[in-house]
Amino acid sequence: MEKLLKRLIEKNKHMARHGKVASYIPVLGKASPNDIGICIMDMDGNIYGSGNYRNKFTLQSISKVMALILALLDRGEEEVFSKVGMKPTTEAFNSLYRMDLPDKWIPSNPMLNSGAIITTSLIKGKGREKSDRILELIRDITSNFNIDYEEETYRSEKKTADRNRAIAYLLRDMNLLDGNVEEVLDAYFRQCSIEVDCVDLARIGLFFANKCKSYNIERGEHMATLAVTIMSLCGMYGFSGEYAVKVGVPSKSGVSGGILGVVPNRFGIGVYGPALDRYGNSIVGCKIMEELSKELNLNIFE
Ligand code: DON
Repeated sequence: MEKLLKRLIEKNKHMARHGKVASYIPVLGKASPNDIGICIMDMDGNIYGSGNYRNKFTLQSISKVMALILALLDRGEEEVFSKVGMKPTTEAFNSLYRMDLPDKWIPSNPMLNSGAIITTSLIKGKGREKSDRILELIRDITSNFNIDYEEETYRSEKKTADRNRAIAYLLRDMNLLDGNVEEVLDAYFRQCSIEVDCVDLARIGLFFANKCKSYNIERGEHMATLAVTIMSLCGMYGFSGEYAVKVGVPSKSGVSGGILGVVPNRFGIGVYGPALDRYGNSIVGCKIMEELSKELNLNIFE
């Protein structure tokens, strides 16, 4: 397995040239586009890693999956999905498109920033308590109690987050967001700044692949099904459809270059490669996932 992972990295790392490291959060711009890593964990707990799989990076949008789970546990499906849809869309992750139209608009899905700011607002607890609960859940799932916020990234995003601020204030104006807007945004920036490596991501993937079993999560199997379904429809933004056809592994990307992959009943996968495609997904990561899927028959639609 390790040989295969190494081969896929070597074969595809040149693709980094065609992508761009995110810089709208200034700290993210420091990442090296040539650092590529991958880790796979199987149901017996065997871990296979290659490349820069021990590099640390922040979860960014991957944290939206955990925020969704906590919002669902705290508020139930009816309330959550009355404020956030479950529709795939080609909107950019940070889009404000349609927010100011007179129809009864709600964000298309919880993987977009607009939807995710709502799910974070629905997590019980005040301000930082919300993101602390996401952090605790991740520590619990990964059994890695060293996982923490990366303060520099958190501060960097907070300083430059005019778009997310605009989204959040509009959401409040539309009665879709309760509570103190700045506190909700602060929790959102914190959850995005949680720092992991590919092994942690693979463990999170395995948690979903294993249907949340052996964790004390109410209706865990159902929660896993919901999260994995939303990931497969919306997890890679406007690339989700093509990714489903080419890769067929429910996944969630983040702008720091991480991809979380879930192969139900088989594997959890973590990939890292900070050069992004135009949708905000790791360009090398997507290609590696495509080839890995073919090599190991991972496509859930086959
Ligand atoms: O809200 C933001 O802009 C970032 N903290 C997260 C965006 C993100 O990761 C988009 N995914 N590719």
